[in-house]
Formats: sequence, structure tokens, C-alpha cells
Amino acid sequence: MKILLIGATGNLGIRLLPSLLTHGHSVVAFVRSSQKLESLLPASVHCQIDVVQGNATDVTAMKQAILKYRCDAVVSTAGVAALAPWGKSDLPVIFKAVVKAVQEAGTEKGRPLRAWFLAGLGVLYYPGTESLLSDYVPIYLEHRQNIKLLKALPPNAIDWSMLCPGTMTPESSDITVPTESSHARLVTNAETPPAWRDSWMKYVPLIGKTLVSAMNAMRYETTLEQNADFIARDLESYESRWSEKTVGMIDPSK
Ligand SMILES: NC(=O)c1ccc[n+]([C@@H]2O[C@H](COP(=O)([O-])OP(=O)(O)OC[C@H]3O[C@@H](n4cnc5c(N)ncnc54)[C@H](OP(=O)(O)O)[C@@H]3O)[C@@H](O)[C@H]2O)c1
Repeated sequence: MKILLIGATGNLGIRLLPSLLTHGHSVVAFVRSSQKLESLLPASVHCQIDVVQGNATDVTAMKQAILKYRCDAVVSTAGVAALAPWGKSDLPVIFKAVVKAVQEAGTEKGRPLRAWFLAGLGVLYYPGTESLLSDYVPIYLEHRQNIKLLKALPPNAIDWSMLCPGTMTPESSDITVPTESSHARLVTNAETPPAWRDSWMKYVPLIGKTLVSAMNAMRYETTLEQNADFIARDLESYESRWSEKTVGMIDPSK
């Protein structure tokens, strides 16, 4: 597929680039600074991609990039959610703009585009309940309004999926194609975290599910490379089992 990658200079974005190339995709990187991107990439990788400089709050620029390069899919890793419940970041504004650009480009192309967005563990459901994990551990709450926005879209507006990782750590700072990972492929699940460890502690009044969520959280640490590989592999096909789903993941060794 031809993919517009928004946020290619970030921790995940810079690892998505070689993963997408490894899985046979063509990549158009949408970045605020093309110089920064060039400084982060070896020439052997930089020469394999197209680069568009622009801001992820600029709907017209992103839409034009999608249409000009005839992109079939978009991956957006741009912007970072504020940690504290009272914190504010520019992620909601970026997210809304990317959604609008992808939706409008799909309308002009006559079919919805495939898109991967990023959130966090907190927008997955506590297994067996209709409550989100962030109801119990209220951090990175801005992701909640982003998922609400996707779920409120009219049918066939965007063929979206939302990756919901816990902490992601780097395996390496080497950006090479083809990519190699020392870690196994992720185990994934829609809507709830896979391999959740429940405990009698959840019945402790008021704080039970918060305690169990906090105990589980460490187990959901994965690597940036594993998540990049997961998205790049999913985009090998136009049909995805993760369509209109939030997706949780765990390293099978945990
Ligand atoms: N890292 C984790 O452990 C983790 C865990 C769970 C969820 N997440 C979520 O995953 C996403 C990616 O995380 P990350 O660690 O890769 O973040 P990151 O390293 O901070 O990267 C953020 C990217 O967004 C770009 N960006 C910010 N504002 C922009 C704008 N207005 N226009 C264009 N680009 C803009 C930055 O570009 P510049 O280089 O120009 O600043 C950078 O490339 C975030 O939404 C984060 O909340 C991360």
C-alpha cells in the first residue's frame, strides 16, 4: 500500500518507516521538519521515501498529501497525550484535523481510507466490564475523546483502527531496512487487553479494580519495533480484522 505516515520523526514514527518499507509499502512521511527527519534517518532509508513538510493541524495540507501521492492508508502517530487528568496537549486538535483530512480525502477518492491511530491502554475495557481502564487509572485521558470521535463517525467514513499500547520502549536506535526484532510478535486482542490477570483484589471496595489495573500495567510494556511491525503487517491487506476496533497487545514472554 501507499501510506501517509504522520509524525514520522517520533519514537514510534521513526520505527514505523523501516517497518513499512520492510513489509513492501511505499511511504510518504508527513513531518513538521524535513531536516529533522533527514537527520534521523540513514541515507539508504531516506532515499526510499517521499517527504511532505507540514503541520498535523493543517487539514488541507494532509488531505492534499493523501490525494497527490494517491495514498491508500494513513498512520498517525503525531502528538502526545497529556499524562495528568487536568493536563492539556495539542493531541486532540491534531487528532481531529487528521480525522477530518482522512475522511475528506476518502470522500474525494470515492472510498474510505484505511487508517491506524494511536491511543493508550486506558481506552481498552477492564475485562468483563463496560468500564474503561482509565476509569480506574485516570491518566492520558485525552485519548478518550479521540476514540469517541472515531466511534461517532458516519458509516464508511474511515476504515480506522486504534492501537492501544502500554509503555513502548526502544529495542535499538538503528533504523535499517529490512527490520529485525529480537522480540516475538505481539499477542493482540480487540477492545480488552489480552492475557489479563484478574485477582480477588478487584472486589476490594472503591480501590479494587484500580489496584488490579496498576498491577497489570507493567505487563503490557512492549517495544516500539513490535508495534511498528504489527501495524505494517496489518496493512499488507486491505481487509483487516481490526477494522473499527481498539487493539490491545502483550509481548508473549510476559
Ligand atoms: N511512547 C509510548 O510509550 C506510548 C505509549 C502509549 C501510547 N503512546 C502514544 O503513541 C503516540 C506516539 O508516541 P511517540 O512516543 O512516538 O511520541 P513522540 O516521540 O513524542 O512523537 C510525536 C510525534 O508527533 C509529531 N508532532 C507533534 N505535533 C505535531 C504537529 N502539530 N504536526 C506534525 N507533527 C507533530 C512530532 O514531531 P516533531 O518531531 O516535529 O516534534 C513527533 O514526530 C502518541 O500519541 C502517544 O500518546 C505512546
